[in-house]
Amino acid sequence: MPANVPGRTGPSRRNLIAGFGGLAAAPAVGAAAGASAGAKAQEAGPMDLTLTINGRDHRLALDPRTVLLDALREHLNLTGTKKGCDQGQCGACTVHVDGVRVLSCLTLAAAVQGARITTIEGLAGADGALHPMQQAFVEHDGLQCGYCTPGQIMSAVACVHEGHAGSDDEIREQMSGNLCRCGAYPNIVAAVREARTRMERA
Ligand code: FES
Ligand code: FES
Repeated sequence: MPANVPGRTGPSRRNLIAGFGGLAAAPAVGAAAGASAGAKAQEAGPMDLTLTINGRDHRLALDPRTVLLDALREHLNLTGTKKGCDQGQCGACTVHVDGVRVLSCLTLAAAVQGARITTIEGLAGADGALHPMQQAFVEHDGLQCGYCTPGQIMSAVACVHEGHAGSDDEIREQMSGNLCRCGAYPNIVAAVREARTRMERA
């Protein structure tokens, strides 16, 4: 089950927004506490951690506040995972943590030490063969500019594994946290439908 994909389990977009609203309602106390926490984190310096990504361990020294998305892109040069909104609203940054789809822009890197992290770079087979979902996106033109595509594909793979791709309506609902500014939605649904059949046969 997705941990922090909007519209499903975990904190929803609405809850997060509501949470931020709550903070905004107490600006003096909230701002002071936030500044103090930030200053303490800065004083503490970098934190040593090991992230297991696509089957490989990576040792890093990161500010404890670093989110997984920035650890991937800025510190490990794994730029396949995209930064869209950076606020948990677009799904472009979706990766898998222990097989569960998560929004890496809302996930602290330190919180996923010891977990199995999979990014779009780790989806193809060892021989370079595309994952059935990647192949189906190619065959069905499930992309235009391609910016949202890694997140769409990671979400779609998890969606099939969760058993949440039973119909086009279900695919649309379960993929609703992944936005596509190019409007490639009909082809994305067709690709997920096709890949589901292939993944079930594999
Ligand atoms: Fe994470 Fe948009 S970049 S949800
Ligand atoms: Fe361009 Fe989705 S293909 S945003």
